[in-house]
Amino acid sequence: GTIFVLNGPNLNLLGRRQPEIYGADTLADVERRCRAVLPEGCDLRMLQSNHEGALIDWIHEAREAAAGIVINPGAFTHTSIAILDALNAFDGPVIEVHISNVHKRESFRHHSYVSLRADGVIAGLGIEGYEAAVRRIGGLLAGG
Ligand code: DQA
Repeated sequence: GTIFVLNGPNLNLLGRRQPEIYGADTLADVERRCRAVLPEGCDLRMLQSNHEGALIDWIHEAREAAAGIVINPGAFTHTSIAILDALNAFDGPVIEVHISNVHKRESFRHHSYVSLRADGVIAGLGIEGYEAAVRRIGGLLAGG
């Protein structure tokens, strides 16, 4: 099946935005690294939008088109009941990724709506978190 890797606002600037927090690698680097660990028989679609509705539309599309979702919702993590509701309408595995350790940062980053749905949450591993998430989706799809 296809794994959607969804990225929220400002992640298009990855590598240039606050590199002391998010590192020097770009989203293209993330995609390359995810493809390198893609589980046998899986496909990957790397997506990014700064718009909440676009992310929701892709999650709806995933209902038909994706076996699993890796999502870094960016700041929508902490605000978006609508993204949580969309993920609740998706049946496959969902892994939430944060590049930074959100728990070490401002208290408004400590709560995640998306975590109420996610099967796993990764924070603070840098972009390696995406690779771990893709591997985990593969494992969950294979039945454990
Ligand atoms: C982030 C953490 C969020 O709090 C922040 O708004 C982001 C990126 C991360 O990957 O560490 O945009 O999701």
